[in-house]
Amino acid sequence: MHSFLVAAFLATIFAASTEATSCNATSHCPASAPCCSEFGFCGTNDFCLGGCNPFASNAVNSCRPDPICTDKTHTFADNSRILSNATFFDGNASAYDWVVDKGNIMNTNSSGGELALLLTQANGGTRISSTRYLHYGTVTAKIKTGRWAGVVTAFITMSDIKDEIDWEFPGAATTEGQTNYFWQGVIPTGKNNGGTSTGLTDTFTNYHSYTIDWQPDALTFSIDGGVVRTVKKSDTVNATTGIAQYPTTPARVQLSLWPAGISSSPPGTVTWAGGMINWDDPDYKSAGHFYALVKEVDVKCANLQTGPNLTSYVYDANATSNSPVVDYTNRSTLLNGAGPVVALGGAQNMIVLVTSLFVLFFHVL
Ligand SMILES: *[C@@H]1O[C@H](CO)[C@@H](O)[C@H](O)[C@H]1NC(C)=O
Ligand SMILES: *[C@@H]1O[C@H](CO)[C@@H](O)[C@H](O)[C@H]1NC(C)=O
Ligand SMILES: *[C@@H]1O[C@H](CO)[C@@H](O)[C@H](O)[C@H]1NC(C)=O
Ligand SMILES: *[C@@H]1O[C@H](CO)[C@@H](O)[C@H](O)[C@H]1NC(C)=O
Ligand SMILES: *[C@@H]1O[C@H](CO)[C@@H](O)[C@H](O)[C@H]1NC(C)=O
Ligand SMILES: *[C@@H]1O[C@H](CO)[C@@H](O)[C@H](O)[C@H]1NC(C)=O
Ligand SMILES: *[C@@H]1O[C@H](CO)[C@@H](O)[C@H](O)[C@H]1NC(C)=O
Ligand SMILES: *[C@@H]1O[C@H](CO)[C@@H](O)[C@H](O)[C@H]1NC(C)=O
Repeated sequence: MHSFLVAAFLATIFAASTEATSCNATSHCPASAPCCSEFGFCGTNDFCLGGCNPFASNAVNSCRPDPICTDKTHTFADNSRILSNATFFDGNASAYDWVVDKGNIMNTNSSGGELALLLTQANGGTRISSTRYLHYGTVTAKIKTGRWAGVVTAFITMSDIKDEIDWEFPGAATTEGQTNYFWQGVIPTGKNNGGTSTGLTDTFTNYHSYTIDWQPDALTFSIDGGVVRTVKKSDTVNATTGIAQYPTTPARVQLSLWPAGISSSPPGTVTWAGGMINWDDPDYKSAGHFYALVKEVDVKCANLQTGPNLTSYVYDANATSNSPVVDYTNRSTLLNGAGPVVALGGAQNMIVLVTSLFVLFFHVL
């Protein structure tokens, strides 16, 4: 990161004065701080970018439009396509493919370059998010997971209203991968509970390709090209409400390595993760961190509409959270681009982001 950015950021921290305003689907943001961040706090600027929740913001169109999906095979010969601090992102998805939301990354020179996501006792884990969203598509991540109890690797898609599709790897079980999906933050109960694929060659020492194939009618999970689980949208319809509890809204790709086995985690999460992290583990002691490696992320878009100048997805002004409608538009995704959100006065909210990152960062089962 450039030092002038650090200076600018510090200045904003010291200038911070306003209280955090929280937001949710029943308590929307005020016009003065119109955007509800993924962490549930109102603000401007980067609060209006990735993760901004349209149904908790001041208006459905308060968030900046979501950058549209483009096909790309992301490789990591170096980290030039990764913005090292998401706080400084301006919404230009042509400038960066990924932002670091939290934590630290490294690049290795092994086999043409690998992105390492680091977990230390001090950093509390690392997460990167794609700058572009996808509205259906196929995403394959070639990764080596972290290992040991309490250390969890995740490769997921996450929408602004928390439609989520997961591959998760508890580090105490390096011969399996777990799959899950959420509809608007709710994990559908009953027959659609999570799946576990077993019998993999060690996921820490071996690269495997994990695929999320998310289509309008079905969701398919694969490992190394072999289908391990399929969820049909028609099988997710809630008998009481008649609503399909199936992810339908544009989502970012996120990769993370996070500490589930720590004392602040709920007991169920610690158990699921295989226990508490041993910070005296020889792996950790010798490297100075736990790590997961990302070799490649392949994104193939399944955009439902095509057109000459489409740049973004927006939630339709008439949409409700029960029936979100996604429009494809040519509107700018930039903070200073044309559109209803005027980016000003965001500085006082940065301290809120910093606080919320630490408190609310990771989605906990
Ligand atoms: C929404 O936010 C308001 C104001 O902070 C709070 O009182 C309310 O409990 C929240 N509702 C939910 C469902 O979290
Ligand atoms: C690869 O290794 C060379 C030589 O050690 C080093 O100069 C370079 O920075 C490394 N590149 C990355 C991306 O780590
Ligand atoms: C967005 O980034 C691209 C690539 O760096 C650059 O060419 C373009 O000028 C940027 N657009 C704006 C509006 O800043
Ligand atoms: C972004 O920069 C701020 C200020 O330096 C820092 O507090 C925060 O942890 C950084 N985030 C990341 C992901 O490095
Ligand atoms: C169906 O919806 C009802 C009402 O929202 C909810 O209580 C129930 O848990 C849902 N069923 C499933 C299987 O998610
Ligand atoms: C963007 O879309 C609007 C409405 O569909 C259209 O009038 C306008 O010409 C488009 N602009 C570009 C640059 O495509
Ligand atoms: C696409 O953008 C170009 C350049 O701005 C414009 O000439 C053209 O009319 C646009 N096409 C549509 C369908 O909006
Ligand atoms: C929203 O609904 C109103 C009234 O039905 C309609 O006139 C308008 O075109 C709709 N807007 C959009 C963006 O669909």
